[in-house]
Amino acid sequence: MEFEQALAIANHAVNKKIARSLTEVEIALLFGAWNSLTYDRISERSGYSINYLQRDIGPKFWLILSDALGHKVNKKNLHGILRQYHAPISNPQLQIPSSIDWGEAMDVSTFYGRVEEIEKLTQWIIQDRCRLIALVGMGGIGKSALAAKVSQLLQKQFEFVFWRSLRNAPTLDTLLSELVPFLSKGQDTQAKTERLLYWLRTHRCLVILDNQDTILKAGDCAGYYQSDFTNYGELFQLLGESSHQSCILLTSREKSAEVAILEGGNGSVRSLCLKGSWEGSLALIESNGLVGTNAQKRQLCEFYSCNPLALKMVATSIQSLFDGEIGAFLQEETLVFNGIRRLLDRQFERLSSMEQTIMYWLAINREWMTIGELQADIVPAISHASLLECLESLTWRSLIEHRAGKYTQQPVVIEYVIDCLIRQFAGVMEIADTQKAILQGLGAIANHNN
Ligand SMILES: Nc1ncnc2c1ncn2[C@@H]1O[C@H](COP(=O)(O)OP(=O)(O)OP(=O)(O)O)[C@@H](O)[C@H]1O
Ligand SMILES: [Mg+2]
Repeated sequence: MEFEQALAIANHAVNKKIARSLTEVEIALLFGAWNSLTYDRISERSGYSINYLQRDIGPKFWLILSDALGHKVNKKNLHGILRQYHAPISNPQLQIPSSIDWGEAMDVSTFYGRVEEIEKLTQWIIQDRCRLIALVGMGGIGKSALAAKVSQLLQKQFEFVFWRSLRNAPTLDTLLSELVPFLSKGQDTQAKTERLLYWLRTHRCLVILDNQDTILKAGDCAGYYQSDFTNYGELFQLLGESSHQSCILLTSREKSAEVAILEGGNGSVRSLCLKGSWEGSLALIESNGLVGTNAQKRQLCEFYSCNPLALKMVATSIQSLFDGEIGAFLQEETLVFNGIRRLLDRQFERLSSMEQTIMYWLAINREWMTIGELQADIVPAISHASLLECLESLTWRSLIEHRAGKYTQQPVVIEYVIDCLIRQFAGVMEIADTQKAILQGLGAIANHNN
């Protein structure tokens, strides 16, 4: 039996007996007992003091629950008792009617693959009751689509579902002035962080904030906020650390600093690094009517690291230029088309100059490289500490791959970076040619004057 079912049984029984639902602290206790956590751990996880849990609320809660279930229940026999009540609850899902504001969430009626990711996020949101989750991955990998799909699947388990995109960089005040009234059904119009926390504690809400990267700083190490948006970082830290019964789901091309710091803690804050999905990409290729052998389809997916946006853009080009023939396209060996270049341009522009240098060296080498190999290559020399910092930042931005102490890039990123280098080199050559022509011209004038 899953915790959600246990919670539904306990809630139902208490509701019937004393006409109220379980409070947040009671849910924290039930969750702890269900997962055999010590009071120490329950306290750590929920933010309530051990004394309050063990000596005050704990004994009262077990009495209420025992009374409601008609059996003496305690932390040890909870599983055994609740299992007996499995049958009367036909649908374990809470099925609470939700108030929903989907904002500009994308339509996911056509959605392929991502079964494992959906399972994992469901586990984190429903069973583990995570408070803050960041979906991180490179542009076009499918973060918003996955967030929309999961939110749609889980909407009935929440009293409120609220989706907003941060793409137009709304101030925190603007966001709160919509979110607080929505969660309080118009009772509360104070656009304040404390009020938001209050409503997230009072109700089970799912708040999805898409495109968090828009309010992060460019050209620096990844994960820090632009000066006008640092209060978002403080808010997310508060929502990750304080106890409440809601879930905040973020999508971002870069992992923000507070998520990186808090995710090592008690499990209430987590991040999922989204990579391309084979299953989804193959389905996408087929639905776009491309033709080719299985090997060609796989090759195409591999070139674009199973990035759905890249594949969608390239599928359009293959349709119009090669009559949908994947083989004919692959023979051309031009992986970076305009649309994909624009996407990567936007990500590349955000890098610090040191990060750009590292990207160049990784692309030039093409192979998995150790930190030592990279350090030996890069000119002018760069300290070990700065190199490590930049590599971590590039990983947060999902632009490089990291495995067993070695680093590389996805194939389409390698092609893109090499392409940038060639363009820059061509630019320099052009300047050199112009300079040569000017010098030649100046020489001719000087000769003429002499
Ligand atoms: N599982 C999927 N099934 C079908 N289409 C998908 C899937 N995932 C993504 N797509 C499509 O690929 C495109 C890019 O996806 P999405 O916008 O979710 O990427 P993203 O990671 O949020 O990108 P960005 O960083 O630019 O916000 C969209 O058109 C989306 O519909
Ligand atoms: Mg998105």
